[in-house]
Amino acid sequence: MSGKNGSVKLVAGNSNPALARDIAQWLNMPLTKASVRRFADNEVFVEIQENVRGSDVFIIQSTSYPANDHLMELLIITDALRRASARRITAVIPYFGYARQDRKAGPRTPISAKLVANLITHAGADRVMTLDLHAGQIQGFFDIPTDNLYASPVMVRDIKERFDLSKVMVVSPDVGGVVRARGLAKRINAPLAIIDKRRERAGESEVMNVIGDVAGYTCILLDDIVDSGGTLVNAAEALLANGATEVYAYITHGVLSGGACARITNSKLKELVITDSIQATEGVCKAPNIRTITIASLIAEAIGRTAAEESVSSLFD
Ligand code: R5P
Repeated sequence: MSGKNGSVKLVAGNSNPALARDIAQWLNMPLTKASVRRFADNEVFVEIQENVRGSDVFIIQSTSYPANDHLMELLIITDALRRASARRITAVIPYFGYARQDRKAGPRTPISAKLVANLITHAGADRVMTLDLHAGQIQGFFDIPTDNLYASPVMVRDIKERFDLSKVMVVSPDVGGVVRARGLAKRINAPLAIIDKRRERAGESEVMNVIGDVAGYTCILLDDIVDSGGTLVNAAEALLANGATEVYAYITHGVLSGGACARITNSKLKELVITDSIQATEGVCKAPNIRTITIASLIAEAIGRTAAEESVSSLFD
């Protein structure tokens, strides 16, 4: 495949080989031969086994668990490509780890999302492409062009196929996610509710106030990340206690760490739908109420448009 910035190449790290293969298949091109492996002491070693001189290279690598290893792979692949004279390097990071550390949460704490953005830029990336950033303003942490894609078109397609939209209410599990949830509600022409979590007094348990009348509705919780699953499980309980008939969740990034899969399986959530921005673990695959939808075609389309210097934002019109 040839773009406006030289021949197009796709290089995959080890974070999500299945997604990288699917993207390559959508673009009808092979992955560039490369070896990304460990020395005996666990140092990362990269060897690009094809000529990339003058090429427009897209590295596909989520900085998912183990976040530090996968970040280091991304940095070292970028360095190898820069030293091999790639014309342009785009770091395609479907899940951008460290995004939740985007501000000083307390005195003497880091802003790790900014540090990671600096590392990626200094390693030699010319552009970044990512998906549903935890906070849109993290784009500004990069001093290089950054495209923040949205999984919503893929989710909307799935929701339209599966639900009677007249009975659906979109719910933001916290006040911070309202803009995201409102966007989905508008796309499917559904009403919106919000969960306001409050701890009235220190030491007392958190109260979940549901803002909006969810009684009789099928509620769809929308969020960027499910990690421990605590937010979703508690939200589902609060919605059912307020009269919702069923609760589903559509979440872009299935971090699902620790006992999250068991927590979701044993919860009142009818189904959790995640994307393949993070490679599914065995626990995710076996969980009866967790389903994965793919964002491979969305990312492939965005890569194709970037290579052709065409609009990416119009993908979401
Ligand atoms: C927080 O602001 C995020 O959007 C998610 O709500 C959060 O990361 C989910 O975490 P957990 O699943 O551990 O409750």
